[in-house]
Amino acid sequence: MSIFEVIEKRKSIRSYLDEAIDSDDLKKIVETGKKAPQAGEFQITVIENKELITKINDLALEGMKNSGNDFLMERANIPGYQPLYGTPVLVILSAPEEGYGQINTALAAENIILSATELGYGTVYLITPTLAFLGDEKKELLKELNIPEGYVPINGIAIGKQGADDIPTPPAEEIDNINYIK
Ligand SMILES: Cc1cc2nc3c(=O)[nH]c(=O)nc-3n(C[C@H](O)[C@H](O)[C@H](O)COP(=O)(O)O)c2cc1C
Repeated sequence: MSIFEVIEKRKSIRSYLDEAIDSDDLKKIVETGKKAPQAGEFQITVIENKELITKINDLALEGMKNSGNDFLMERANIPGYQPLYGTPVLVILSAPEEGYGQINTALAAENIILSATELGYGTVYLITPTLAFLGDEKKELLKELNIPEGYVPINGIAIGKQGADDIPTPPAEEIDNINYIK
C-alpha cells in the first residue's frame, strides 16, 4: 500500500481475535515508533502477557468508572465494555512528566499505528490505559512494566487481528479545517 492508502485504511478497531501477533511483525511495527520526529526521551513498553493486559484492562475500567468524566463513565457502564477490547498486544508509551512527552509519544504512536495497518493488523489509540495508573496499584504496576523512574504513562495502542464484534466509530462530520494562505 502507498502511505496514502494506509492512512485511508486506518480506522480504530475495537474487537480483537485472541491470537498472538507474529513476533517479527511486532518487532518491525514497534521499531517504527523510534523513527518519528522527537524532542526528548520516551519509552515504548510492549505487553504481550495476557494476565497483565487483563489486569490493566480491569484497572482502567475501574478508573473510568471513578473518573468523574461523563463520557468515560457512560462508556464504562455499557454492559460488557472492556477498555482494551481483548487486544493480544498493548503498547504503552511513557515519558517524563516535564517536556514534550505528550507530543513525542503521540508521534511515535502514529508511526506504530500506520505500520501495523500496513501489515494488516487492527489498532486503536487509547487513553484509557493511563487510568489504570491512578489508584493504589500505581507503583506496583509501573514496576511490573519496568517503566523508567520518573516516567508517566501517556497513551496506549492496542494491536491485533480484527475480531468480529467491532464497535465502529460513528462517522465524523466532515469538517473543513484546512485553510491555505498564498
Ligand atoms: C487522544 C486520543 C485518545 C483516544 N482514546 C481512546 C480510548 O481510550 N478508547 C477508544 O476506544 N478510542 C480512543 N481514541 C480513538 C478515537 O475515538 C478515534 O480515533 C476517533 O473517534 C476517530 O475514529 P477513527 O480512529 O476510526 O478514524 C482516542 C483518540 C485520541 C486522539
